[in-house]
Amino acid sequence: MDIDKLPLHVGVIMDGNGRWAKKRLLPRKLGHKSGMERMIGLSEHAKKSGVKYLTVYVMSTENLVRRPEDEIEGLFGLIRKYFTAQAEKLYARGSGIKIIGDISALPEDVVKILTDAENASPANPVFTLVFAINYGGRREIISAVNRAVERGEKVTEENFARLLYTAEIPDPDLIIRTGGESRLSNFLTYQSAYAELYFTDVLFPDFSDAEFDRAIAAYAARDRRFGRA
Ligand code: IPE
Ligand code: IPE
Ligand code: MG
Repeated sequence: MDIDKLPLHVGVIMDGNGRWAKKRLLPRKLGHKSGMERMIGLSEHAKKSGVKYLTVYVMSTENLVRRPEDEIEGLFGLIRKYFTAQAEKLYARGSGIKIIGDISALPEDVVKILTDAENASPANPVFTLVFAINYGGRREIISAVNRAVERGEKVTEENFARLLYTAEIPDPDLIIRTGGESRLSNFLTYQSAYAELYFTDVLFPDFSDAEFDRAIAAYAARDRRFGRA
């Protein structure tokens, strides 16, 4: 594929884990487990494809307060069980991890797992997996504005981007949402201004490497004009 047509940064709204489980008469928790496993495979594939940043939407600010406690606990359980070992595997292959979201609201031990892993991330990774957890675009924007106000800084397009969780990360070129809904659900609200959007009915645990390639091919066929004639 033409290298210019390859997205540098892909965001994935990993939706449909619950329905995937329901279809199989399994508890939602197992849908999340399958989703987590698929996410790990997909990040390897994205890296091999030449994508530099893959941002995965793991939990929204709304999910944390609106889902039953046992479902949220189940998601934390997956992090407790897999995160550290998976991060080490990524680092061994020259990849890095970045966390975005309001992690201060998460259980202390989960915060420690996430921050310890992030702190151990290599300095110049060839690929970065960005983990959006308790992430909300509105909360991100509001906290950036408040930081600017506290510093007495006037906000500009240039300095504002540096106040966001994604300070060091280029805007997403492509945002994929699995699970059939055509909305962004508070994902990368500021950064998605010029992102190409790709929606598919495939439920996230079924979103194969080949499905990802299909999304990349659809992206490559688009004409990104950025307001030009
Ligand atoms: C996405 O899958 C994962 C999270 C929001 C944590 P869902 O849990 O939203 O799955 P559906 O949409 O109910 O199928
Ligand atoms: C979006 O999915 C959040 C994640 C995938 C983490 P939701 O299932 O929470 O979104 P809505 O509620 O259908 O908009
Ligand atoms: Mg959903």
